[in-house]
Amino acid sequence: MGVFRIAVFASGRGSNFQALVDAQSNGLIDGEISLLVCDKPQAAVVERARKAGVDCFLFQPKDYASREDYEREIAAELSKRGIDLIVLAGYMRLLTSVLVEPYSGRMINIHPSLLPSFSGKDAIKQALDYGVKMTGITVHFVDGGMDTGPVIAQRAVEILEGDDEDSLSQRIHAMEQQLYPEVVTWFTKGMVELNGRNVAIAAPAKR
Ligand code: GAR
Repeated sequence: MGVFRIAVFASGRGSNFQALVDAQSNGLIDGEISLLVCDKPQAAVVERARKAGVDCFLFQPKDYASREDYEREIAAELSKRGIDLIVLAGYMRLLTSVLVEPYSGRMINIHPSLLPSFSGKDAIKQALDYGVKMTGITVHFVDGGMDTGPVIAQRAVEILEGDDEDSLSQRIHAMEQQLYPEVVTWFTKGMVELNGRNVAIAAPAKR
C-alpha cells in the first residue's frame, strides 16, 4: 500500500500538531502529515507547519457565506492529496456534513476532558469549576455532534490541591502530546475497529 496521508486541522498554538510532526520525523508515525488546515492565518501553528515543510490551507471563515462553502474548498484540497485520516488538534470550529460524512470513521479529535463530561469550550476550566478530582483527555471519532463520537482512547489526569488552569493545562497538554501520536499510529497500522459506539484496538494489520 502507498503512503498513509494525514491532514491536521488546528486553530491555535499547535502543540499537538508539533507532537505529530515530531513523531513523523522520529519514525513513530509511519505516514505523512501532508496538510495543515487552519482557520486563523496568524496562529502559531502555521509557523510550525512552515518550519516542518507541511503544506497549509489557510482561510478566514468571514470570507465565506457559510461553513459549507469553506468546507467544500477544504474537501477539494483533501481529496486532491488523497488524505486517509483527518486529525483535529485544537480546531475550534464545528464541522458540517460536507466533511463529517465523507470522512466518517476517518476523522478524529482530541478533547481535554474525560468525555462525556465537560464537552465544548474551556473543558479544563469547566472541570476545575465543577470541583472534580479527576479529569483527563479523550481521543474520539468525529460525528455530527459536539464531542459526541465514539471514544478511541482516554487517559486520566488527577486534579491536585492548589491546581489552577495553568498548572492543570500543562499536565493535560503533556499527556495529549504523548497519546495523540500513539493513536495516529494505530490508524496507520489499521488497528482501530469501530462497532457501533464501541472501538477496539486490534493487533497491527499487514499493509
Ligand atoms: C488541546 O488541549 C485540545 O485538547 C483542545 O485544544 C487544545 C489545543 O492545543 N481541543 C479542544 O478543546 C476541542 N474541543 P494545541 O493548539 O497546543 O494543540
